[in-house]
Amino acid sequence: MNNMNVPLITLRSISKEFPGVCALSDVSLDLYSGEIHCIVGENGAGKSTLMKILSGAYSPTSGQIVLNNEIYDELDPETAQNLGIQIVYQENDLVHSMNAVENIFIGREKTKKLGFVDKKSMYSEAKKIMQEFDIEIDLSVKIENMSVSDQQFVKILKALVNNSRLLILDEPTSMFNIEDSTKVLELVKKIANQGISVVYISHFLQEVLDIADRITVLRDGVVVKTYEEVKNITMGDLTLHMVGRPIDKFYQRDKIKISEEKRLEVCDLKLNKNSPEVNFFVKKGEIVGIYGLVGSGRTEIVRTISGADRFYSGTIKVDGVSVNINSPKDGIAVGIAHITEDRQQLGLNLCHSVLENLLIVKLQQMRKSLLYDYKKQGSRVQSIIDKLKIRTPNLLQKVIYLSGGNQQKVVLGKWLITDAQIYIFDEPTRGIDINAKYEFYEYMTELVKQGKSVIMISSDMPEIISMSDRVLVVRDGSIKDEFTQDEINEQNIVCSALGVAI
Ligand SMILES: Nc1ncnc2c1ncn2[C@@H]1O[C@H](COP(=O)(O)OP(=O)(O)OP(=O)(O)O)[C@@H](O)[C@H]1O
Ligand SMILES: [Mg+2]
Repeated sequence: MNNMNVPLITLRSISKEFPGVCALSDVSLDLYSGEIHCIVGENGAGKSTLMKILSGAYSPTSGQIVLNNEIYDELDPETAQNLGIQIVYQENDLVHSMNAVENIFIGREKTKKLGFVDKKSMYSEAKKIMQEFDIEIDLSVKIENMSVSDQQFVKILKALVNNSRLLILDEPTSMFNIEDSTKVLELVKKIANQGISVVYISHFLQEVLDIADRITVLRDGVVVKTYEEVKNITMGDLTLHMVGRPIDKFYQRDKIKISEEKRLEVCDLKLNKNSPEVNFFVKKGEIVGIYGLVGSGRTEIVRTISGADRFYSGTIKVDGVSVNINSPKDGIAVGIAHITEDRQQLGLNLCHSVLENLLIVKLQQMRKSLLYDYKKQGSRVQSIIDKLKIRTPNLLQKVIYLSGGNQQKVVLGKWLITDAQIYIFDEPTRGIDINAKYEFYEYMTELVKQGKSVIMISSDMPEIISMSDRVLVVRDGSIKDEFTQDEINEQNIVCSALGVAI
């Protein structure tokens, strides 16, 4: 870390109020050149709001920002950018129909003398930064055809081509697999080594402990603590400050007796003509974990079961009876709820209220029956909000105004409200804080206690190990191994996913 004596930026007593919500109150923070400053806190703690104030997207209700001996009551995005403050938002803000380089220079395209766009110089400038920081992406590919992780690199690159002195990364790895997360973390270290100040927000606390120079904990919009050094911090210590009470490092689930009855059977399923056959089953009251590296085909398999994608051949049986599933509607009709991986795009109607989003699938189901029991639904909605601790001032708040993690909880909630018998969760706890994660595990345990069945795809090893009754490992599009009881351990699962002998 350089220049530890004079902060690059000081936030002084920042407060921010939204109608019905006090998002930040009296927050003060120093940021130094060349430091990686991590900010942690539960969903809705105020992390993104604080960063939006720093990047000029929001004006604070009160407080000041000090930079270069100048005091600002507020910034606007242009001033912030000109001062070298660049932000990579949690939300996806790239234009999907445009390619990477067009996105990187959007709004400040380079032009030649006659006003024509100078593509060549934009490419060469982006390439220069890519070389400097070891970033590898194809600049000419449209965003919609890029993997989620490459999109994230485009967002970071976009921030870097603007001359940055402070780079803010809001949950940059929440949609990544392990290899790509490591690449991002390496990149962040390189950026800080060049003297740029980095603010890094993440719910992966191990990641935070690995890269932070300093850590600030926010709770309910207030700074609880800033750790000046990270060496001796334990995870328990950090979560204690985040949540306000101690939490166990590993979740211990109540194991229950699983019925012998098979709820779901997948027989000789082929996604395409030449793909391998997939066979598996899930019993009543069972949680089956599915593990596999990104690209192994795990998401594709479950998408066909719920009707999100078509399959080539095979049979799906629910409670012993063959069912025809050709669309998500068919899936819902036979009692399958599928909570997809890509939540912001597929899972939510951002401009509609929390209530509407939570009830959307349920209402589709109820249209079939003439007897609407609205009162009952109201109390169910409230109980889901309480159970998942969805932080919203009221039921009519538009989902777009909720914090990232709370939006995610709404997606989970809308499926938990339906009367499904089979739940398929694809990476259910990404972006959700550790406390809410455990609440969700409790809820999942409740579901299987009621005899429901769960399929859970997850890359979170502690989650797979502590929640699954059985673990299936997917590699090259088919199920290669099955582990139960004591066999469910990290070594078995990882070796099987990689295809190496133990
Ligand atoms: N534009 C807005 N209008 C109304 N309320 C808002 C708005 N933006 C944020 N909030 C509220 O402010 C609080 C803090 O939200 P913020 O997005 O800063 O949380 P966060 O710490 O980033 O959480 P997460 O980990 O879930 O991303 C939340 O209660 C949120 O609902
Ligand atoms: Mg956030």
